[in-house]
Amino acid sequence: MAAAAAVMMVGAAMVMALAASAAAPLVTFVFGDSLTEVGNNNYLQLSLAKSDYPHYGIDFDAAKPTGRFTNGRTIGDIISAKLGIPPPPPYLSLSPTDDAIFRGVNYASGGAGILNDTGLYFIERLSLDDQIDKFERTKLQMRAKIGDEAANKLCNEAVYFIGIGSNDYVNNFLQPFLADGQQFTHEEFLELLVSTLAEQLMRLYQLGARKMIFHGLGPLGCIPSQRMKSSHGQCLNQVNQWVQHFNDKVKQLITTLNSHLPSSKMIFADTYQPVLHLIDNPSTYGFKVSNTSCCKVEAKLGGLCLPNSKLCDNRNDYVFWDAFHPSDAANVVLANHFFNIMFPNSTH
Ligand SMILES: *[C@@H]1O[C@H](CO)[C@@H](O)[C@H](O)[C@H]1NC(C)=O
Ligand SMILES: *[C@@H]1O[C@H](CO)[C@@H](O)[C@H](O)[C@H]1NC(C)=O
Repeated sequence: MAAAAAVMMVGAAMVMALAASAAAPLVTFVFGDSLTEVGNNNYLQLSLAKSDYPHYGIDFDAAKPTGRFTNGRTIGDIISAKLGIPPPPPYLSLSPTDDAIFRGVNYASGGAGILNDTGLYFIERLSLDDQIDKFERTKLQMRAKIGDEAANKLCNEAVYFIGIGSNDYVNNFLQPFLADGQQFTHEEFLELLVSTLAEQLMRLYQLGARKMIFHGLGPLGCIPSQRMKSSHGQCLNQVNQWVQHFNDKVKQLITTLNSHLPSSKMIFADTYQPVLHLIDNPSTYGFKVSNTSCCKVEAKLGGLCLPNSKLCDNRNDYVFWDAFHPSDAANVVLANHFFNIMFPNSTH
């Protein structure tokens, strides 16, 4: 815990310094999965990882599906609002010449993982490698418009939010019918995940990323889709142990990378304990239910909220919206926590 706190303090100092020096609004680039996606998969014709139908988005501004995998806002939306910037648009919604790229881009894609084969039954999604390829293209577009020096400066000063890895467990290692869970022990699988992630973070660094915030995994053993596999709806401890092991390894990786890559300021944001505390003590945060989702989902049908699914009466009473994703109300609690760590003296 102490080590984690120290890492967070370094992170806080970094982001604060950045906020203080920034006369212009922050530029953010977002990489991730369905926890941060804002609509890329709607542009992938064959993708089965989509949320472009009711009841997704029911609590968003226009009460319509937005491509977000929740009833309202993602954690990223809430943090952007606190920073006074619009949430960066989905990469696939932008035309190649769009000047919006200079204000930040969201590459996140539901079903995506660190590994290319994660989520393969969704047919189409942007894996983390694909997302970095897209960012490379964005950088080329910037260089064409404003020249190498200005593009490099923009990329060096931007903040990169990276939240990925949940699907490498939920939609890969934990699926008995896929190869990775059969073929590898958890130790071997973890080694593969972390060595792949190391190459991906170094590639982002080579493309100019310096201020990267890696969002660690939450207690996946406690999400409704995993509890459904237990005998009495309890959390799966083995899964939670694996996830904590992953978080520890990535934390070590980031310390190593920071010591080897000049002016690299990567942060590991550990949200495992805060999320677990919310799940274990929902009433402390104004919630009533944390062991099942507001939208009554069928595990057999993938655990997403379907148009004919029944919703709970009060969506703000539930920590989980569907079998995988937190509700808008839970995202507010988690975003506030995340924000207070990054900007401890903020008046936002
Ligand atoms: C994963 O895909 C990326 C880009 O699509 C490719 O460059 C990379 O070699 C692939 N990795 C593996 C292990 O197949
Ligand atoms: C959730 O917890 C409540 C109260 O502790 C319990 O009555 C209910 O059966 C649990 N639901 C599930 C799906 O495990």
